[in-house]
Amino acid sequence: MTTPSYEELKTWDHMHVWHPFTQMQEWLSEDPIMIARGEGNYLIDIHGNRYLDGVSSLWCNVHGHTHKDLNSHISDQLDRIAHSTMLGLANIPATTLAKKLVDLASDNLTRIFYSDAGSTATEIALKLSYQYWQLKNSPQKVKFVSLVGGYHGDTLGAVGVGYSELFHHYYQPLLPDTFRLSPPHIFRFYQGMTEGDAVFAATNEAQVLLSQHHREIAALIIEPLMQGAAGMWTHPISYLQALRDLTKQHDILLICDEVATGFGRTGKMFACSHADVQPDVMCVGKGLTGGYLPLAVTFTSEEIFSAFLAPHHEFKTFFHGHTYTGNPLACAAALANLEIFEEDQVLGQIAPRIAQLKERLQTDFTGLVHVADVRQCGLMVGIELMRNTKPKTSYKPEDRIGLKVATEARKEGVMIRPLGDVIVLMPPLSISSDEMTLLLDVTHHSIQKVTCQAS
Ligand SMILES: Cc1ncc(COP(=O)(O)O)c(C=O)c1O
Repeated sequence: MTTPSYEELKTWDHMHVWHPFTQMQEWLSEDPIMIARGEGNYLIDIHGNRYLDGVSSLWCNVHGHTHKDLNSHISDQLDRIAHSTMLGLANIPATTLAKKLVDLASDNLTRIFYSDAGSTATEIALKLSYQYWQLKNSPQKVKFVSLVGGYHGDTLGAVGVGYSELFHHYYQPLLPDTFRLSPPHIFRFYQGMTEGDAVFAATNEAQVLLSQHHREIAALIIEPLMQGAAGMWTHPISYLQALRDLTKQHDILLICDEVATGFGRTGKMFACSHADVQPDVMCVGKGLTGGYLPLAVTFTSEEIFSAFLAPHHEFKTFFHGHTYTGNPLACAAALANLEIFEEDQVLGQIAPRIAQLKERLQTDFTGLVHVADVRQCGLMVGIELMRNTKPKTSYKPEDRIGLKVATEARKEGVMIRPLGDVIVLMPPLSISSDEMTLLLDVTHHSIQKVTCQAS
């Protein structure tokens, strides 16, 4: 098959493709970067330009692109079968993967439900939790609690528990009433407080809400330790632990959405393990297949699973499924991903990279004039830019500061994508020391150049 020319591709893209989270009027006025290949931690465009993948292709890639073991596992599976349904059938990779994932997760999570995106994993978590209480004769438990700034995907249920003025305001009338808690995110909500005082205040707020409304609450959903799409908001381990205690105390299910934080991104396989927290439900996606193929999983406890067991005619079944549920090819990629974690002892290997990142962020970034806050959890980083840091004054949305920094970085061969004025760094776990230095050097230089010009 001959590859079309860049000009042809650009025309077809501009004529036919609607890009996600993209103002298409802006997109149509630009020349798109057309990715042709990947190699290790680099993306390579159709002209042969190389870009360090500084956000792991939207927080997905784990061990680098075109990894030989991942490629060969997928290709071996392709020679067997690409897809068969899980409605009425099992398949070898999906069954094997279920066993491996359950062995990795906290002891109480013994059952997994497959789907194909982070949004579907959280949608399933919400539906399962909701139905669980109906089946347990508590039909009044119909509401959810989530965190201000929480993001759990773009399907309607997930949007309902998410909270973003920008992303969600058009859909408000379609969304269920959800209780919100302010997380102990000091930069926005608890300015001037110590971390301990902020956790105390946020926990208090949770305690009041849950004790007043527990009879109507089915579950509390949280992105553990790092609220990614909000703009990389970190919260301490003790807050997650406090929410686990409170939800247990008040008979409320705890759903941990590890779609972004899972598979080593925080330095451990799952963020919950930093806190020794066992959620009732856990969602994973993104890095599950090493960032290769769409696959997601919703874990649940045996207690939840068993509530759905009954003779067929009682109709307690979980009536939910997707066409590609448990797709063998994606499950083979996930199996290869887990094998690489084990064989290369990846979690041990990334500790020096996390330390390198921390050191550079502290020494070089925190003192920059327009850097208002630097937040890190493992290999997840948010660098928040402001026009003035004292007193805090944001840039105007039309200044597009975050976007300008990312554009500048691209010119120097580094691909990053901001969240508003927060510069996000989330390199693949396979990033080398030199590549980390490049990522930080280019980001530093781009921030300085763009913020200097803007002031
Ligand atoms: C915490 C979290 N949950 C859910 C999602 C949605 O995942 P997907 O885009 O695969 O539907 C995301 C995506 O960024 C996420 O960060």
